[in-house]
Parts: sequence; C-alpha cells; structure tokens
Amino acid sequence: MNDYIIAIDQGTTSSRAIVFDHEGKIVSTGQMEHEQIMPHAGWVEHDPKEIWNNTREVIGQALSKANITRHNIKAIGITNQRETTVVWDKNTGEPVYNAIVWQDTRTQKIVDRLADGDTDRYKKKVGLPLATYFAGTKIIWILDNVDGAREKAEAGDLLFGTTDTWVLWNLTGGVNGGVHATDVTNASRTLFMDLESLEWDDEILKDFGVPKSMLPEIRSSSEIYGHAAGESLLRETPIAGILGDQQAATFGQVAFDRGEAKNTYGTGNFMIFNTGEEIVASENGLLTTVAYKLGDQPTNYALEGSIAVTGSLVQWLRDNLGLFSDAAQVEDLAKSVEDNGGAYFVPAFSGLFAPYWRPDARGALVGMTRYVNKGHIARAALEATAFQSTEVLDAVNADSGVDLTELKVDGGMTANDTLMQFQADLLRVPVVKPVVAETTALGAAYAAGLAVGYWKDLDDLRKNWQEDKRWEPQMDEEERDRTYRNWKKAVTKTFDWVD
Ligand code: G3P
Repeated sequence: MNDYIIAIDQGTTSSRAIVFDHEGKIVSTGQMEHEQIMPHAGWVEHDPKEIWNNTREVIGQALSKANITRHNIKAIGITNQRETTVVWDKNTGEPVYNAIVWQDTRTQKIVDRLADGDTDRYKKKVGLPLATYFAGTKIIWILDNVDGAREKAEAGDLLFGTTDTWVLWNLTGGVNGGVHATDVTNASRTLFMDLESLEWDDEILKDFGVPKSMLPEIRSSSEIYGHAAGESLLRETPIAGILGDQQAATFGQVAFDRGEAKNTYGTGNFMIFNTGEEIVASENGLLTTVAYKLGDQPTNYALEGSIAVTGSLVQWLRDNLGLFSDAAQVEDLAKSVEDNGGAYFVPAFSGLFAPYWRPDARGALVGMTRYVNKGHIARAALEATAFQSTEVLDAVNADSGVDLTELKVDGGMTANDTLMQFQADLLRVPVVKPVVAETTALGAAYAAGLAVGYWKDLDDLRKNWQEDKRWEPQMDEEERDRTYRNWKKAVTKTFDWVD
C-alpha cells in the first residue's frame, strides 16, 4: 500500500487539497474558489463557513481522484493565506463576522491611532510596521464594530485565528474539543508575537485592547497538533505541519538555509530571503518574519518583501474592465504589442506595501497617449509585477549586503513566459522555476511529513528539487535602466491620494 501526505492550502481565492508522494510529486488535487466579498471600497471579506465547507469538499475530491482513503495518508499539512482574520464563538463554532482579508484597508484609522506618529513603534519586537495588512488591527475592528463582541471576548467566549487556525480547530472537532493553535510563521504576522521569545507580547496586547484568551497557542511549524476528528474523511490522521503560505513556498523550494530566497507570483508577490538563525532588522522597507521552526530545533528567520497586487491586477483587468475572459489570455494580449507603448500601471489598490509602505497611495495608469491600446495596458499590468519584484530584490540585496545570483520562482504567474523573461531582464540575474511549481502546498506537506518520519531530514527533501525552466537576462542595459527609471517615476504619482 502506498503512503502519501495531504496538504490543505487555504488561499486567498481558493482552497485546495493536494496529495503528494515521497518524491514530492503531485498525485491528485481538489480545488474550490470562494466568494470575494467587497461591501465597500477597500473592504475585502471571506465567509469562514464557506471556506471550511470547501476545505472538506476538496479533501474529498483529492482522495477520490487518487482513489485512496485516509488509510493511505500519513499526515496532514496546513498552509494558508496569512493575516486574514477570523473571530468565532467557541461555544457555537459560529464566526461573529466575516473573515477580514489581508488586503482589506478598513483599519487605517485604527493604525493611525495606535501609531501616534510612529508606525515603527513595535517593529523591533515584532518585525512589522503598523499597517492594515496585519491581523492585529483587524481584530480590534471586529471587537469595536460587532455588537456584543468585546463583552464576549472579555468573558473568554471568542477565539481568534488566521485561516490555518480556523481549519485546524474545525478539523480537530470544533466545539467538541477542537485544537486552538497556530504556528510561529502565522503568529509572526499578527503584530503580537515577540520574534525572540516566540510568545504573545502582553504589553502590545494591552495597547491593542485584545484579550489574550482569544489567541491560539503558538506551536512550531512541524509537530503533531492533533488528529482529524470523527466525522472527517481523514479521521484519526495527524495534523503535523502548519506554515503560512509564503513561508510554506520557501520551504517547498527547499530554501532552508541562510542566503537562499524565493519569489512567489500569486494574488500578490512575496519574496522571502532566509536569514538563518539571525533576526535581521530591515533598513529598506522589508518585514522581519519567521521562516520556519521544526519541532524544538532553532528558529529560522527571514526578510520578506510583500507586494499586495500582482496576479490580482490581471483578475481586475478581466473582471472589472472585461479586457479578456480568461486570465491566461493576458499573455497573448500583451504579446500583441512590441512594448508598453510608454504606459506604466502602478496597482496601488491597497496602498503600496514593500518597500514603500504608503497607505495613502492609490493605483495609477500613467504615460497615456492616443497610441496606447489594450495590448499596451495588458503589457503594463504584467510589467508592474516584475517592476515591483525588482524593487523588492533591490531592498533584499541592500539589507543583506550580498547580491543574489539567481532567483527561485513559483506560483501561477510563472506560467507566463513573457513576464518571466521580463523579470530576468530587469533583475539581471537568471530566474529559475522548479518542476513542482505548487511549492506552497508542497512546503506544508514537507513540514507534516518530517514530523511523522515520512521524510527523514532536510537532505531527503533537497533531493526532490528539480529545475524545470530558466530565464536568462537578455535586455540591453540602457533600455533596462530607462524603463526602470520610468517605473519609479510612475510610482511617485500614486502618493497622497487618501485624505
Ligand atoms: O500575506 C498574504 C499572503 O499570504 C496571501 O497569499 O497566495 O493566498 O495570495 P495568496
């Protein structure tokens, strides 16, 4: 009988379950999208019940496609969209409000109040600036705006979790003894976890007015948290790995050591640079975060460049402008023209994240003339992804003091050849993609498999990484510098748009 690991990837646009074999190859996949609820400009919500129902469904899909049962599954790994905040009643299992998604900017006033002129006031301890992106201010919003929530939270009846915690609690039995835990990587995105002690910080919680009883227990990224409960298709199977999706992708790319990095092209782009056991404070607009922690082994830290809008700009061109009906068509449209025709598109839809951290920024399409057509706009949208990642790589190089010699990439948009070539041209280093591009789910599977002895050690995993494709820089230096200069000029046009 063959044994496998299953990973649940609870992402921003969909939930997936992927079964992996010992070589890290995909055996089967289940996937379901969930609704993006946008009640007002800047607000983005998900229905936590829909997410949990979809999670159960996709587990069933993956098992039946592979024609296997729980008896073939050695362990479950969970990976997730980070920062997205769920608050629920522990007695009923009912969320008190929709999940507030990481992209949501409604908490800007809360951020301003807490910052009191200094958005970096907690940065040394938690590695993050005060920003709407992180979970902490989203919890305050729920406690302040949902009727009776604060009283219930103070009485110890409400629980908080990012979606890893929400899935874990439900999978392990929910109101009937569900495990309320998270891992260090997800905890490092709340604004509440001290990066050194890996514990919730009482002083910050006091400033935020968030009762500690709401918070999950912080555990490592690779250990047995609990077992799937009675009614689950996976009942009695250990849940043995949890990593936030970007850290999971880093793990799946086997970037285990100091100096290794990856860039994931998803809804947004996220570059993670492993700094080993050292906590490095960024001077160039990057976040300091936990990369992973395996059981009781030392913690691995990272610098991260988070970009809010990349792939979701392509979706926006499809859904809001109707430029094409399928996201994959963006490449053909972009290739229908020679270049961007002078147009630059800065998608500051949620303000700008790394390396600028400008909540006051809003999107801009500049350089427009009558010459520009929809091909140029598609091209400018793709180029925006590569320009933003180039700025982040510049920051990584500046913070680390060493220039990366190549960049490992993964995620949906890496299927786009035009984009990857442009990325290599801008970065001036080769861009390399592995055979298994589903590195997020793979990383969670690896963490779970290590905990139960399915894989022996990190070397066992390194063997699984294989190169699929490589893009070498080709663009003329002068042209590259000219277009990058124009991009930077375009970025300055997005500032100061919010009063
Ligand atoms: O920090 C947000 C990130 O974890 C979301 O990733 O892939 O679900 O868009 P993704």
